[in-house]
Amino acid sequence: MTESFSQGETPGTGLSVRLEGVRKWYGGRVREERPALDIPFLHIEGGEWAVLMGDSGSGKSTLLNLVGGVDLPDAGTILLGDSPLNRLDERERTMLRRRDMGFVFQFFNLFPTLSVRENILLPLGLLGRKDPAAVRRLLDEVGLSGMEHRAPSELSGGEQQRVALARALVHRPRLILADEPTGSLDHRTGKVVLSLLQRLHREYGPTILMSTHSEEAASFGKRILHIRDGEILDAPTATTS
Ligand SMILES: Nc1ncnc2c1ncn2[C@@H]1O[C@H](COP(=O)(O)OP(=O)(O)O)[C@@H](O)[C@H]1O
Ligand SMILES: [Mg+2]
Repeated sequence: MTESFSQGETPGTGLSVRLEGVRKWYGGRVREERPALDIPFLHIEGGEWAVLMGDSGSGKSTLLNLVGGVDLPDAGTILLGDSPLNRLDERERTMLRRRDMGFVFQFFNLFPTLSVRENILLPLGLLGRKDPAAVRRLLDEVGLSGMEHRAPSELSGGEQQRVALARALVHRPRLILADEPTGSLDHRTGKVVLSLLQRLHREYGPTILMSTHSEEAASFGKRILHIRDGEILDAPTATTS
């Protein structure tokens, strides 16, 4: 079933993301209340770097969680490549997440009891793959060679986010979901992390969907989507493409 995700698209290139009539209510399907997220139509091309900009509470994380298959919409369809997420069972969604997605969060979410190296190896381990060369390459790319045996607590915030970036990218996922990746970093460190993401994006072309509050962070993306009260202001309302 999950093999169908590579059909129609070249493996190794970015996965397209398409939302049709997607709505999400929290605390059950209270139709009288406005949904936390309401997206009639949104299409993100494979390999595109799209940026979600909006105030706190506007629905950025909700959208990222739905696209990541972490949460399910109450209405509508989300297609990754050619395949609708809602046709997959929980096990298939988990496999899809592990194989084709990389997640970056505001607060890094590294495993505190694992070393830098073990954190980066984790996605490969979950896929039953061993690729020490990939881990070394990523450590080098994010400028953390020599730190692989440290614990996350022995690193600065910027270094921790670079580890998180390496972990998100080590299995070359076709879709990167980054939820305010620079939100807890100072300006200079945030720029280092974004430049790295930019370099890796150029290197192999995953699709990136990133949320941020910062205009400067947003400028790294190709397309800015403004979101307010659960609605994207600059996406078409009908399926025009
Ligand atoms: N687990 C939840 N339970 C109930 N309401 C939630 C939950 N998560 C988010 N919300 C609500 O949904 C809206 C969008 O939240 P969120 O997607 O977290 O916004 P953002 O990431 O842009 O700050 C907000 O009104 C928030 O309070
Ligand atoms: Mg959020």
